[in-house]
Amino acid sequence: MRTPVCELLGIEYPILAFSHCRDVVAAVSRAGGMGVLGALVYTPDELERELAWIDENVDGKPYGVDVVIPAAYVGKEQGGLEKLDLEKLVPDEHKAFLEDLLERYDVPKLSDDVENKEGLLSWSDTMGRALVEIAMNHPIKLLANALGPPPADIIETAHAKGIKVAALVGRADQALKQKTSGVDVIVAAGYEAGGHTGEVSTMVLVPEVVDAVAPVPVLAAGGIGSGRQMAAAMALGAQGVWTGSIWLTTKEAGNESTVTDRLLAATSNDTVRSRSITGKPARMLKSKWTEEWEGPESPGPLPMPLQFLATADAEQRVRTAALAGSPSAQKLTVTIVGQIVGSMNQLLPARQVFSEMLDEYLDTVDQMAQQVGENEEGV
Ligand SMILES: Cc1cc2nc3c(=O)[nH]c(=O)nc-3n(C[C@H](O)[C@H](O)[C@H](O)COP(=O)(O)O)c2cc1C
Repeated sequence: MRTPVCELLGIEYPILAFSHCRDVVAAVSRAGGMGVLGALVYTPDELERELAWIDENVDGKPYGVDVVIPAAYVGKEQGGLEKLDLEKLVPDEHKAFLEDLLERYDVPKLSDDVENKEGLLSWSDTMGRALVEIAMNHPIKLLANALGPPPADIIETAHAKGIKVAALVGRADQALKQKTSGVDVIVAAGYEAGGHTGEVSTMVLVPEVVDAVAPVPVLAAGGIGSGRQMAAAMALGAQGVWTGSIWLTTKEAGNESTVTDRLLAATSNDTVRSRSITGKPARMLKSKWTEEWEGPESPGPLPMPLQFLATADAEQRVRTAALAGSPSAQKLTVTIVGQIVGSMNQLLPARQVFSEMLDEYLDTVDQMAQQVGENEEGV
């Protein structure tokens, strides 16, 4: 079951797990796959702490880090977000819409002692680079980037340190660009996926990307949470799978119980692609938040990263109130997840999710081989 991408990344099984949670990353890497830590939610100091913990707990197994340095965003031409007066970039009608929304759902202002994280700057080149610099001082084996090719100098530095570079794509033409820029592994993420996602389904996207970028290895992403789905991805020509949502309902993910309950109860029909968080389409659970942004009063989401800037404070207020138990705030909560959520019905240890996926994959491939054998005997 080892594929060339296993050799390239130094892993035993071609299962990669994207997670913001260090425990999931370490558990998957220890099990023989590769955990990839999503760095976007961390400040440089926090990232340093998380990676130091992983180094201590990963038993020397390979792991990766994922950053988001968008190829295009508002303010890039002006030299970066730091050069702009951020407050002035959000139109008054968006501010008014949000204030009204929070009032209607009884979401109070944050108290002065709640830290307001300057999360927006994670989207900038400067902050992205600060995170990459920290990551590269740890023994990472893979650096992944979403939303466009990673800057050329970052690819060069990674390669000089023996770190492989991966990039997420949602279209075959994007994959070709990534190949030209020297990326080692392409992650083809289909429409079903949690988080940012394009319009082409995994079933259609993966073979298109595999053919477009051969011999560069492709990992299939989007809607993969079981061994049968993994077998399908491998049949489409992928050398492995890149999974995200499935780890959200593992014990290691450490989500709040209300979030876990929502995920466990949701069906595959309960997600929507919405621009309401980052300005680019991302898949999440349907909620009053996604509904209100589509409603008649909505001014419509702003382009990346302004939507995030406009909503960061509101989102933090909602999260704080929801955590404190406010039912109306809970209705507004944003929960990023893919369509596979419909199959996520039990809170399990990450190691079990991993081994069940692997076992089911092997059984499925066996069954398929038997079917072919039986058919041949019948000919
Ligand atoms: C909660 C959540 C947050 C995500 N955040 C990021 C991110 O910051 N960077 C990134 O490259 N991908 C992110 N993704 C997408 C994953 O990398 C992956 O492509 C996706 O989860 C695969 O589809 P699946 O959710 O059906 O497994 C996120 C996914 C989820 C579920």
